[in-house]
Amino acid sequence: MDVGAPPDLFPCTEEVSSPPKAWCPPLRGHHSGSQRRHPGLFAPWASVLLGLARPRPGERVLDLACGIGVFARAAVPMVSPSGWVTGLDLDPANVAVARAVGDRESRFVGWHVRRAERLPLRDAAIDLVVCQFGLMFFSDRPAAVREMHRVMSKGGRLVASTWQGLDRHPFHQAIHEATLARLGISTVASVFALGDADELGTLVHSAGFSDVRIEARSITARFANAQEFLAFELGVDPAVAPTLRHLDRRDQ
Ligand SMILES: C[S@@+](CC[C@H](N)C(=O)[O-])C[C@H]1O[C@@H](n2cnc3c(N)ncnc32)[C@H](O)[C@@H]1O
Repeated sequence: MDVGAPPDLFPCTEEVSSPPKAWCPPLRGHHSGSQRRHPGLFAPWASVLLGLARPRPGERVLDLACGIGVFARAAVPMVSPSGWVTGLDLDPANVAVARAVGDRESRFVGWHVRRAERLPLRDAAIDLVVCQFGLMFFSDRPAAVREMHRVMSKGGRLVASTWQGLDRHPFHQAIHEATLARLGISTVASVFALGDADELGTLVHSAGFSDVRIEARSITARFANAQEFLAFELGVDPAVAPTLRHLDRRDQ
């Protein structure tokens, strides 16, 4: 198959004009993309998922909830020029960053601001779906996984990562407990909800996938200093920022 150019698969029926409020906390400084300041946290995971997914020349790849396109951009050289990658995310600011960088690097990649729950793709249009730390944020997870299954070609594959449970993340657990005690609410736990392998397996099986394998992986994220880490957590981390937004500056 020689598709020759990025996909024009998108008979666009909907335009998402703003990101979900729960996901997109107000950001400090001049940054507006929700991921712009922390590629260091997610980029190492793209290598792990690439190793699992092994994109092959000629494949059509969907990077679902692509953020700033870390996985998509890494996959393009592996599938092009006979295949291509498309990145899709709900957050226009993230997609703008992905597009600005990705389009300079290759013409075999395309970007779209859309919802995972309703993919503007034809049935069986994709050989490999990758969803790196996106599933937890979807408002309708079963619908999103059904969509992944619908757009997948026969023999296609899905590689997805979710965080393990809150009990495996001491920093986030501390934030969760502190904000619960202080505010009586916390959105932190929901982001770790798919750490339960049984729940994750049921979600994926119910959408029609077979031959499902779930395995635990850990890597170490490195920040230059504690201030950088805290600035990321307070302003950007999708697991923490929405909750901390409710605290005044001194309590943060
Ligand atoms: C933790 S980030 C991961 C981004 C990227 N996959 C990475 O690993 O760098 C989660 C992403 O999910 C996106 N997202 C949240 N809800 C979504 C939805 N319903 N449809 C598509 N993307 C969504 C967010 O905008 C965000 O970019």
